[in-house]
Amino acid sequence: MDRTGGTGSARHMGRRINPSEGMGTLRLKREVGLISAVSLIAGTMIGSGIFMSPEWVLYHMGSPAGSLIIWAACGLLVMFGALSYAELGTIIKESGGDYIYILRNFGSLPAFLFAYTSIIVVRPASMAGVSLSFAKYAVAPFYQGCSTPEVVVKCTAASCILLLTIINCLNVRLATAIMNIFTAAKLLVLLVIVIGGVVLLINGHTQSFQDAFQNTTTGIGPVGVAFYQGLWSYDGWNNLNFVTEELKKPEVNLPRAMMIAIPLVTCLYLLVNVTMRVLTLSLWPSVALSSFGSANGTFFSGGRVCYIASREGHMPDILSMAHVRCLTPSPALIFTSAMALIMIIPGNFSSIVNFFSFTAWLFYGTTIAGLLYLKIKKPELPRSYKVPIIIPIIVLIASVYLVLAPVIDQPQIEFFYVILFILSGIIVYFPLVHYKRHPQFLQRITLHLQLLLEVAPTAKNTN
Ligand code: ARG
Repeated sequence: MDRTGGTGSARHMGRRINPSEGMGTLRLKREVGLISAVSLIAGTMIGSGIFMSPEWVLYHMGSPAGSLIIWAACGLLVMFGALSYAELGTIIKESGGDYIYILRNFGSLPAFLFAYTSIIVVRPASMAGVSLSFAKYAVAPFYQGCSTPEVVVKCTAASCILLLTIINCLNVRLATAIMNIFTAAKLLVLLVIVIGGVVLLINGHTQSFQDAFQNTTTGIGPVGVAFYQGLWSYDGWNNLNFVTEELKKPEVNLPRAMMIAIPLVTCLYLLVNVTMRVLTLSLWPSVALSSFGSANGTFFSGGRVCYIASREGHMPDILSMAHVRCLTPSPALIFTSAMALIMIIPGNFSSIVNFFSFTAWLFYGTTIAGLLYLKIKKPELPRSYKVPIIIPIIVLIASVYLVLAPVIDQPQIEFFYVILFILSGIIVYFPLVHYKRHPQFLQRITLHLQLLLEVAPTAKNTN
């Protein structure tokens, strides 16, 4: 296990030319304070979902009260999940979120499978999903009364990804500033919706809540799918754990930011669900704005998975380097953006959501199992925040349910493909990672790319 800061980069430095030599060690700086931390979580969580999923949750649940219960349950589950991740983040102070926790608790192969799936499919898919919804709503006003051509939506989504890549490669502060501005804007929009709805409700527009429980579904499958739709809107709750090393005072700010952001988002979502039933608004610019901010957050943290996995030797070396002046992990960001661009070509929003949730909860469950392991076997490890053990147990049970329910209810071949894809990582793992059989030309490419992108290896930032 390599838990000491710096050895990772020493290992890197031994085997290639290092432009940072003589310049001191290169590290990403701790530039994320509490406000940016809250907005990284809330700003990624609030994306397109809250504007689009309420209808689907309602459709699957059959009644307004049933769907409100799902929204509340999703919020509670995510809060429990976040509290568990907060403890993990204060024990293992490295960036990389689920990846680094799986690596430290279960070892190299499972962590590689996570990184492989996450870098190639999950993260690009969520990035593509959010940018597609940005694109759809951004161009909609120009095509009133007719349907928007698919290619226009896809090109707009691609431009959104490219723009975010440039911003994130240039400067971490710029990226967090954008996150803060967009989060503030969308909180404002949601607040306006809530206030408008409450005013209508007070004035007696309550007909949509009569017999609120009528027709509620109780089938395991539909409830599971309703959860998937709801949980997509909440996804992003664990985003801060991907950037622990860039967070100021992580032992305090990590749990604190989660405890502020998640209840805030949950309350807003519940209120919006109530009020959207009485308000009929055209929300185009709001959805576009909200999705853009969420895409930025997804990209910010998504790029970090690739960066950290490469620092641990699970991805090509070039991806663990940072720009020598901008101090951003630009190769990892460019790679993540390329994968997301590829995903846009065949991507369609609703299939992305279902398979995303299935895969995501498979890994959340694994990570939480790791926390239970640490709590039982290594209670002596120092941590500044402790979650009661019942909470991760509940999250673990919920994630088993979330992975199994839709599969049992409606076995679709795509779930099998997901599993097959994850397992296909084993074939990649042994030659390339375990036995380190790297093709010769890779080193030359790394060198050229290093010079081209002006990047150098980095050290960990865990003190
Ligand atoms: N919750 C966001 C939405 O409703 C999706 C966030 C996806 N990004 C992520 N990092 N999980 O659009």
